[in-house]
Amino acid sequence: MQKFLIVLLFMPFALFAQDDARDEWQKPDAIMDSLGIRSGMYIGEAGAGSGYFTFFLAERVGETGRVYANDIDEQGLDIISSRAQKEGFDNIITIPGEVEDPLFPDSTLDMVVMMKAFHDFTEPVKWMDNVIADLKPGAKLAIIDPVPEKVDFWKSHFMSKEEVLEIMSGTGFELVHIFTFLPRDNIYLYQLKSSPD
Ligand SMILES: C[S@@+](CC[C@H](N)C(=O)[O-])C[C@H]1O[C@@H](n2cnc3c(N)ncnc32)[C@H](O)[C@@H]1O
Repeated sequence: MQKFLIVLLFMPFALFAQDDARDEWQKPDAIMDSLGIRSGMYIGEAGAGSGYFTFFLAERVGETGRVYANDIDEQGLDIISSRAQKEGFDNIITIPGEVEDPLFPDSTLDMVVMMKAFHDFTEPVKWMDNVIADLKPGAKLAIIDPVPEKVDFWKSHFMSKEEVLEIMSGTGFELVHIFTFLPRDNIYLYQLKSSPD
């Protein structure tokens, strides 16, 4: 019983410590710098979970920008809404999505960002087809996903670079660049194909 109480008492600190530790290797600012995310942009974050990256994005795009935080799990979105309200982030809008369709508002997004989520999408090709209607002209899509050779856990759960490229080759997007500077992830940057196949 005493052990249980001690664990409960220290849990919030453990959670914060875990986020600090994630910042170390996740490098959210460096990711946003490499993607050119700046004030005023409208970002669709797909598979936002409970919002690890959402608040970094919201801080960066500022009052004139928006972050549409999407997920199929509404519990995570509730956590995001509560934190946004508590911390005064008026520029975060949660969007409950469907497995095949994010349901972002049409023709709105400058960029779609998928932070550690692409490998969990079960219908990525249909999802990519549906997200196209939500993009502004010239919009980009960034997949930040763990690389099996760079991590020493859940290797079989993650997708190799070749698997990501293979899946995406069946969509309306074309690869612009792969950033490899992160210790655990690759960043795959895509844009719409100029002429559909
Ligand atoms: C590993 S979590 C990552 C959460 C968060 N982005 C982070 O980095 O902490 C993957 C998330 O993708 C979500 N997801 C899976 N399939 C999805 C889909 N088709 N559309 C939107 N979200 C999806 C899951 O519900 C989960 O919250």
